[in-house]
Amino acid sequence: DTYDFGLVGLGVMGRNFILNVADNGFTAFGNDLDEEKVNALIAEGGDTSKVNATSDVATFVGALSTPRKIMLLVPAGKVVDLVIDGLLPHLDKGDIIIDGGNSFFTDTDRREAYLQQKGINFFGAGVSGGAKGARKGPSIMPGGSREAYQYVKPIFEAVSAKYKGEPCVAYLGPKSAGNYVKMVHNGIEYGLMQLTSEIYDLLKKAGGLTNQELHQTFGDWNAGRLQSFLVEITSEIFAQKDDLADGDLVDKILDKAKQKGTGKWTSQNAMDLGIPVPTIDIAVSMREISALKDERVKADDLYDKPELTSVVKDSLISKAEQALYFSFIMTYAQGMHQLADASKEYGYELQLGEIAKIWRAGCIIRAELLADITSAFQADNNLQNLLLSPSFVDKVKETVGAARELVAYGASNGIPLPGLSNALTYFDAYTSGRLPLNLIQAQRDYFGSHTYERLDKEGIFHTEWED
Ligand code: 6PG
Repeated sequence: DTYDFGLVGLGVMGRNFILNVADNGFTAFGNDLDEEKVNALIAEGGDTSKVNATSDVATFVGALSTPRKIMLLVPAGKVVDLVIDGLLPHLDKGDIIIDGGNSFFTDTDRREAYLQQKGINFFGAGVSGGAKGARKGPSIMPGGSREAYQYVKPIFEAVSAKYKGEPCVAYLGPKSAGNYVKMVHNGIEYGLMQLTSEIYDLLKKAGGLTNQELHQTFGDWNAGRLQSFLVEITSEIFAQKDDLADGDLVDKILDKAKQKGTGKWTSQNAMDLGIPVPTIDIAVSMREISALKDERVKADDLYDKPELTSVVKDSLISKAEQALYFSFIMTYAQGMHQLADASKEYGYELQLGEIAKIWRAGCIIRAELLADITSAFQADNNLQNLLLSPSFVDKVKETVGAARELVAYGASNGIPLPGLSNALTYFDAYTSGRLPLNLIQAQRDYFGSHTYERLDKEGIFHTEWED
């Protein structure tokens, strides 16, 4: 009884992941409290010498070869601690626990320190790609002990998505590096989704595009430089008929977006680090505004929207493509910038080129653009911001004009484009050698003697401002 890999939590993700492990020639053993899920896995696995499962923890642990490699795919939070405590009495020193959920990174650091005392290796490994990804090849973002990673590596490399043959998994760094990277992945995901929804709004309201035309347009874009998982599924969403009533499903879906917290954590932590990620911030705020449906409906009655100015449809579509490309770049730039800073702050020693590389396939934010981002960071791992990479200058210059036009159109026509305008403002501010914040320094010194620095002289200054 020596199975190669153990997995706790046989929900959709867990079941799919373990079947993926088995498909790749490793024997795998599952564990879940729920007998039904245990039986479902055994039935689906077919051959119990390859995939087996039990609801009993001792049997589960006893069936694994040492050092045991046990992955948890259970909801983030308390459950992770409960599962760990349930496993502990049965484990031996050197065994490895891998948390594959979206755990908050400080929880991972706490668990790692706790398990280290007991001689157990702990990995926080973000897994992206949804249920399909887990089954066919996700992107995996592991962080933890480099030495212990050698035991997990062959399995993860086999089950992960491949980009031109290269596995979408790599050892990312110590401690919670893997969870942190996955958190920022999700922040970027929020930004890209918000931007896509704004462009949809614009095409529909200003351009009058039907769902069929939206399907076509996003489909065309997906064949070009915007090629990405999110653009691809967006195209497919517009083609989906409703099976409960007549018409297209997208039009029947309530416009309130839920969230489980990873995008918000990205924003919160960016604030702590002092790194601006405005496109991600606004994506979180928009989910919050979306939740205020009743208030929005009332306010909609109180205020008129301007009459829409007419646009030339083909030109709108072409500008929308450019603006989406521009704002996608800004979103990745912000996320990568946050990773660079977090790496210093938390001692992760992240290789940004490696991260972009394992995001090229399998994960939700996979995109053709990530091949260029990978090259930019491989050329210079100390690149402070993607916008400073010579390889991005032309891409941005070519598309920023369209972003300006659409932001202006949205502003004068009452179509909210907060993600796009924040992306543009981020660009304009980041590329301003001189900002008006000298005035803020003057104000601070005026009312509170907070002091200021000067352009022309070294040192700290204070002025007795005249009333
Ligand atoms: C992934 C996703 C996934 C996340 C969903 C939902 O990479 O596969 O990021 O981990 O749970 O995207 O997130 P929200 O419920 O917060 O939108």
